[in-house]
Amino acid sequence: MRRHDPRPAPPASRPDAADWLLFEDVLAGLRSTPKRLSPAYLYDRRGSQLFDAICEQPEYYLTRTETAILARHAPEMAACIGERALLLEPGSGSSRKTRLLLDALPDLAAYVPVDISRSHLLEAARAVQAAYPRLEVLPVCADFTQGIMLPSPRRRPFRVVVFFPGSTLGNFDAPEAVRLLERMRRTAGAGGGLLVGVDLVKDPAILEQAYNDAAGVTAAFNMNLLARLNRELAADFALGCFRHEAVWVPSESRIEMHLVSVCAQAVHIAGERVEFALGERLVTEHCHKYTGQSIATQGRAAGWAALRSWTDPRGYFSVHYLETV
Ligand code: AVJ
Repeated sequence: MRRHDPRPAPPASRPDAADWLLFEDVLAGLRSTPKRLSPAYLYDRRGSQLFDAICEQPEYYLTRTETAILARHAPEMAACIGERALLLEPGSGSSRKTRLLLDALPDLAAYVPVDISRSHLLEAARAVQAAYPRLEVLPVCADFTQGIMLPSPRRRPFRVVVFFPGSTLGNFDAPEAVRLLERMRRTAGAGGGLLVGVDLVKDPAILEQAYNDAAGVTAAFNMNLLARLNRELAADFALGCFRHEAVWVPSESRIEMHLVSVCAQAVHIAGERVEFALGERLVTEHCHKYTGQSIATQGRAAGWAALRSWTDPRGYFSVHYLETV
């Protein structure tokens, strides 16, 4: 690492092993054009709490809509999943929606929640275990994009079904999404299933409002990324010098979340200097919106056959069941 900065470095500027990957990746993202960071970094403990608060906002219809779909159709989904499955949930967060499925799946071999935020994961896993005392809950703390080692439950599962709700798939650009779906197919193995929830293309005004809530929770969620880098990587982002923006990009069928630099400025991160021009954007998240056709096509490209789908009366969101081909 180059150090041109004559000031004595604060202790946290020497990232330890755990922070090193974060540091390298963040610096590479800030040095690319346009500047871009992985949306996974939005979900530290505080970010995960803010995301839960986003789900309560009146403009953010996604969680409520998907929850209603799950509540209404869980028995049909459970019939697709079948007996004694291992249910694997990448990016499980608070595991709230999962309970609707668990209620319909009394015979599950195990529930394996996977999340990058350890405190959030363990808290959620404890709560699920308390609510379902007979269920084997095996939490795995991991970045699910890096692949997941399946734990071995006491009862041998008949099959592995991946539960991937929340339109988290939409965070990935098309080639990455296909790679992720392929990885999930390999993890699930022969005869495996995938229950995936995706947000659908709709009136851009409704989409943009969902990511620009009036209470400013999404803005706080986005800005927390900078606060996190200040905390964990001894960066000196001036939070007042960036503002949140979320825009619908029709050509890419996605909402893009940006942090816009409101002045020309230099930021230091573990001793490295990064410049922002006035109005320059840091891309923090892509949220792709699907059609029934586009999710089936993407699944097919990854070796999954789309068998069934469920949607809400307004056609805002859909949940799809796929099986390995
Ligand atoms: C968790 C990725 C599904 O894309 O709607 C919500 C994240 N970002 N508001 C989404 C998010 C801003 C969310 N996902």
